[in-house]
Amino acid sequence: MDVISTSTDAFRVQNLHKSFGELHVLKGVDMQFPRGKTTVVLGPSGCGKSVMLRHLVGLEKPDSGSVWFGDQRIDKLTESQLTAPRRQVGFLFQQGALFDSLTVQDNIAFPLIEHGVASGAKARAMVEHVLHLVGLNDKINVMPASLSGGQRKRVALARAIVMQPAVVLYDEPTTGLDPITSDVINELIMKLARELSITSIVVTHDLASAFQVADRIIMLHDGRVELAGTPEQVRQSELPVVARFLKGKASPEELAEIQS
Ligand SMILES: Nc1ncnc2c1ncn2[C@@H]1O[C@H](COP(=O)(O)OP(=O)(O)OP(=O)(O)O)[C@@H](O)[C@H]1O
Ligand SMILES: [Mg+2]
Repeated sequence: MDVISTSTDAFRVQNLHKSFGELHVLKGVDMQFPRGKTTVVLGPSGCGKSVMLRHLVGLEKPDSGSVWFGDQRIDKLTESQLTAPRRQVGFLFQQGALFDSLTVQDNIAFPLIEHGVASGAKARAMVEHVLHLVGLNDKINVMPASLSGGQRKRVALARAIVMQPAVVLYDEPTTGLDPITSDVINELIMKLARELSITSIVVTHDLASAFQVADRIIMLHDGRVELAGTPEQVRQSELPVVARFLKGKASPEELAEIQS
């Protein structure tokens, strides 16, 4: 019998397998994401981090294995059944994904209108509140095109939290940003976790960001979990894959790929 004692975990994936055609991306992944904590999934480009994250909100279905949101089995739900759990989860997508034709206000209010949570003055007040949290109150009426990359991330983050989610999923929140702007985003992730008691799941290959925000780090490599532990345990790991990743050293096999 399956043991289903997920009360301390916001999300859990068990023995997750996922292939796209011939490409076996997730090869039996087990991960737990404790409530109220910030868990970072760290790993090289292409190792399956975004694919894993998309499974958590039913944007991908596993070939085998299971995905749990608390005590609810996510991977068996239909699109309409997914609406309720998705309301409790904010998603900061890897590609910012603001609507270019909508103002900042309308971008952030979008989920409120879509889910019928609020409109008009109430929606406006909720938008102002989250824009205040990310420090962009003065941008409420502008179009996304006039924002910098870091500001766009902050607007996307404001949109991800406007529904007051219990969990926020961050896909590469700092990629492509300069170190100072990255620091601002990292501080925001920590502030939201602290002030709104949000459970955070951060997927990244940015080491500095991982060690700055994580309570726990899970190292994913080639579709498998190499190591899960505290930042200190990861830092001291002598596993070759982990040590190479931390030092930014490619293996002979990885270098062979670029040699003819
Ligand atoms: N819908 C899809 N169809 C086909 N292949 C896919 C699909 N989604 C992802 N892949 C492939 O699966 C692998 C893992 O992709 P994924 O986006 O999870 O990587 P990642 O770890 O998030 O990388 P990065 O750090 O660059 O964002 C890649 O080889 C990618 O090309
Ligand atoms: Mg990715």
